[in-house]
Amino acid sequence: MTGSTLWRNARLATLDPAQGGDGWGLVEHGALLTEGNRIAWVGTIHDLPAQAAPDQEVDLGGALVTPGLVDCHTHLVYGGHRAAEFEQRLQGMSYEAIARAGGGIRSSVAATRAASEDHLLASAAQRAEGLMAEGVTTLEIKSGYGLSLEAEARCLRVARRLGAELPLDVRTTFLGAHTLPPEFEGRADDYIDAICTWLPELQAQGLVDAVDAFCEHIGFTREQTRRVFEAAQCLGLPVKLHAEQLSDQGGAALAASFGALSCDHLEHLSPEGIAAMRAAGTVAVLLPGAYHTLRETRLPPIEALRSAGVPMAVATDHNPGTSPGLSLLLMASMACTLFRLTPLEAVQGITMNAARALGLPDRGQLAAGQRADFVAWRLGHPNELAYWFGHNPCQRVVSNGCERSN
Ligand code: NIG
Ligand code: FE
Repeated sequence: MTGSTLWRNARLATLDPAQGGDGWGLVEHGALLTEGNRIAWVGTIHDLPAQAAPDQEVDLGGALVTPGLVDCHTHLVYGGHRAAEFEQRLQGMSYEAIARAGGGIRSSVAATRAASEDHLLASAAQRAEGLMAEGVTTLEIKSGYGLSLEAEARCLRVARRLGAELPLDVRTTFLGAHTLPPEFEGRADDYIDAICTWLPELQAQGLVDAVDAFCEHIGFTREQTRRVFEAAQCLGLPVKLHAEQLSDQGGAALAASFGALSCDHLEHLSPEGIAAMRAAGTVAVLLPGAYHTLRETRLPPIEALRSAGVPMAVATDHNPGTSPGLSLLLMASMACTLFRLTPLEAVQGITMNAARALGLPDRGQLAAGQRADFVAWRLGHPNELAYWFGHNPCQRVVSNGCERSN
């Protein structure tokens, strides 16, 4: 969008410490000036610089305004669903046992391989629209249900097409090391070799923003993960990791040694893992949807992460197996009730810290220079974002400087 717009008559939750000491950075009688797709100025309307001459003005009607929401961990592109597996788990079969019996991720791989690109696009677009309805303006999407060069490329292309066709910013993550596809049964090291050769091709096609792996006893070992990370590093691609979800594999420390943007899940994270993440500036991405769906009882070490000063993000982990949910606000609420985050931490977790988990310092706060991504809510205080659930208070969304119909 070209030209400048003054968005006035708002209460701003800027999340900018420069605007106030309590973390929310509240600005009463607030206004935002945008120039094209960037925020040019933020403050109370009384302080608007005299020389500001906006091309247009929008009255936000006294709404609460926050940064656009960032869902920094999803597996949005897949075929089929796993409702039958959900029933099996309710009857007592474990996630690991289902995976070892050839179900779990592998059943989604079969359904994804069988689906056309257009079908994958249509189903993923519906899901993306569900997330967007609650104010998501940046969405990370992982591959990992194709597990061949052709099928992984298809899923990543679908993710790119979503970003091109919908008014939101999509970041793609290559998760070839999600599980071993059946044609490589018993040959995990050969599979790792194969995906390391796919990576330059996928990158050359402009399909990869980051690289992830599932380091777990039902996934890949630390050594195999290291080889994937080395391949990413050679190409200058940042890494992230599904780490210590079901057991402590030392994956977080390995990822941190590669300067990982984030380590995600972390229910079994050790003190050494926390120290390594802290030293590397790696974000801890908490996924209460997976914890809830798998009926886990072991909590991520929240207090230790907090006192170490490791930034915490919160995401949906939307996927057909462990987190078939499409509400980032519900995840914020569960991050409080299940993981004991404060509402401020939960809201920082779905905005500024989620942006950091994607290596995107240009969003997640309302401040001059940030991308013009923001949401107007039918709410009085931003702590209500983590309080209500099963209710969508989103009123208006501006994405990349343009208001989208929500
Ligand atoms: O983030 N843990 C591995 N990956 C996904 C689940 C994938 C699946 O079960 O389909 C997760 O929870
Ligand atoms: Fe995941």
